[in-house]
Amino acid sequence: DKGGYPFYMEKEIMEQPRVIGETVKPRIKDGKPDFTAEGIPDEMLASCRRICVIACGTAMHAGLVGKSLIQSLIGIHVDVVMASEFMYNDPIVDKTTLVIAISQSGETIDTLEALKFARKCGSPSISIVNVKGASIARASEYVIYTNAGPEIAVASTKAYTTQLAVLYLLTARMAIARKLWSDEQMKEYMEELQRVPAVMEEVLKSKEEIHHIADTMLNARDVFMIGRGLDYSILLEGSLKLKEISYIHSEAYASGELKHGTIALITEETPVIAVVTQDKLKSKELSNIKEVQSRGARVILLIKGQEELEQEKIWSRIFRLPVMKDEFMVMPVSIVLQLIAYYVSLDKGLDVDKPRNLAKVVTVE
Ligand code: BG6
Repeated sequence: DKGGYPFYMEKEIMEQPRVIGETVKPRIKDGKPDFTAEGIPDEMLASCRRICVIACGTAMHAGLVGKSLIQSLIGIHVDVVMASEFMYNDPIVDKTTLVIAISQSGETIDTLEALKFARKCGSPSISIVNVKGASIARASEYVIYTNAGPEIAVASTKAYTTQLAVLYLLTARMAIARKLWSDEQMKEYMEELQRVPAVMEEVLKSKEEIHHIADTMLNARDVFMIGRGLDYSILLEGSLKLKEISYIHSEAYASGELKHGTIALITEETPVIAVVTQDKLKSKELSNIKEVQSRGARVILLIKGQEELEQEKIWSRIFRLPVMKDEFMVMPVSIVLQLIAYYVSLDKGLDVDKPRNLAKVVTVE
């Protein structure tokens, strides 16, 4: 049942406010994150010296957001490793390394094997899985289920944002275990997390505006997506989504790195999506955007809030994102990028839910 939408992907995008709520709400007690039901001991969260996230594809991109959160808000070093590469790089994991395996299906063999390897090295482990009772859930010491419900479209949307929701909760639980935040800081963070569904609804109401933005990309051969920090992490996922279902070549690039690399590939024919949501990075991001504009690029700007911009005319499109605290902005941005990929694929007449050569679950290494 596609819920009246032409494809499951659209239905699953629209479900996000609800399933985020269903993932977050049961894990809040007295305004604080709570993993008693999962049995996760605070001692484990307090004692690890580093964290290693293992995952593939979209789940790995969720891990990258988790890395930013945990490093900046908790101060623990986090590595995010592609599960398929993990064992072949002589990984340094031991009982002081908390391993977090992230997987929608819970059956991805690369992730499962990497997790088993880490457990043999003595690492404590938590998995974040969507499918109840899946192999990865069974192979890890503790499991936190995302309550996204069945995800049918091959390109992941609601599984990804519910993985993020769990990572927000886990970060806050680490702060408790390590006695890091003030009551005020915890309260503000948890209130912001609970505001995510309403903010997502707000973005979903702008579907048609986002559809018009997607239309400007229909005939593009290449697309670039640029941003820094968390904006870059979310663009890696947005770019993957566009590639997966529209077959347009897209590159997510850290804006500061462009000038050291492939800026020469950006021409007047290349749409560039720029995301600017992090206050402390804003002025640098805007000056990197000027560099591509001076090469004639048509820049689609996704920016937080209503602030005035110099020369509104030079932007190909501007989308104003609802305002959240910086660390939560990936949530509204994800929706915009998912919808852009969706509409490009839809308007090209492609099979959005079943892109060629891609399987929902991959059980070969
Ligand atoms: C890929 C899927 O094969 O596996 C991606 O096509 C997915 O959409 C990746 O992100 C990882 O899957 P899972 O189930 O481990 O999250």
